[in-house]
Amino acid sequence: MTGTDPALQPAADDIRRAAELLRAGELVGMPTETVYGLAADALNVEAVGKIFSAKGRPADHPLIVHLPDAGHLTRWARAIPKEAIALANAFWPGPMTLILKREEGVPDAVTGGQDTVGLRVPDHPVALALLRAFDSGIAAPSANRFGRISPTTAAHVREELGDKVALVLDGGPCQVGIESTILDLSRDAPVILRPGAISADDIARVIGRRPATRTAHAEEGAAAAESEQPRVSGSLAAHYAPRTPLQLIPAARLVEEAATLAGEGSRVAVLARTCPDPRDARLTWHNAPVDPSGFAHELYANLRELDACGADFIVVEALPDTPEWHAIADRLGRAAVGSGDGGVPVDEHDET
Ligand code: TXA
Ligand code: MG
Repeated sequence: MTGTDPALQPAADDIRRAAELLRAGELVGMPTETVYGLAADALNVEAVGKIFSAKGRPADHPLIVHLPDAGHLTRWARAIPKEAIALANAFWPGPMTLILKREEGVPDAVTGGQDTVGLRVPDHPVALALLRAFDSGIAAPSANRFGRISPTTAAHVREELGDKVALVLDGGPCQVGIESTILDLSRDAPVILRPGAISADDIARVIGRRPATRTAHAEEGAAAAESEQPRVSGSLAAHYAPRTPLQLIPAARLVEEAATLAGEGSRVAVLARTCPDPRDARLTWHNAPVDPSGFAHELYANLRELDACGADFIVVEALPDTPEWHAIADRLGRAAVGSGDGGVPVDEHDET
């Protein structure tokens, strides 16, 4: 993966400085294989508080704690089921977060006051070097403002939060491009709280049973039973959103509907996949990779670019309804719900 590219190997001085900043209670932009994180010392409540104010994120939304290796698990989690160990062995370092019962001493500021904690070992040479130098847990949500598109380059982090971080480590563009799979193992049956590159089938192959998936729809239906539900901000219906209104249109109608929108005097940006560019001057046309991992890798950078091009609408070619597109369709669906002014969370404009 990223480890083979010498350009992405961390400079020892940068890692040392980043670890010092974390120890001093500062925030650092940290590359991972999924998206860039906004990192703080997970045991320093004041530093963790800075994450929430920088992002404008509600204080009761829990953070993922990143660990140098699975050997650190027992410092953060208790009653660790065998399935967790099997999954950690199979997928760490990698894009999978496990929700486990928290060990004593894990701050409420990190867990949102819940009795569980989210843990993962990221698969990126810079993140791993920082974690080894720091030798403890690093709390890191995606380094975007609350409800907005996750950053997949160091430049994105500087754009979003440049004035809030002491340092952004540049680890190049994130290989995976969408956030980790979140698997809740703190209850009787495993449940995927957020789909990601590691699928329900991948998990079933390791633990011998298929995790349930909590869909956005099911979650809305279950809103009344909220006290029983862990809070996952990445599972809010409106999330990962551009400012420009975004809609998903089947390939067969893409050109026609984009042209209709443009015909009404609007500027339209299109993220197509299989549809060839009709070379209509009124459309800003962008073709994304046709395969799921290529598409995911470029997804957030593409959405940022289309959001910034001055269009009135973003139109995205709808994705195939097959398992390998599930996690990406999940993000695009939420981006559509959250896009435009209607979806801007109130906190998003909070500059504190
Ligand atoms: O790929 C990723 O997971 C990235 C990189 C930086 O590691 N991180 C990330 O963090 O996406 P964030 O905070 O943007 O999303 C983490 C999600 C949130 O929706 C949070 O609510 C959920 O994980 N989460 C964290 N701890 C949890 C817990 N104890 N129970 C339920 N959900 C939890
Ligand atoms: Mg996030």
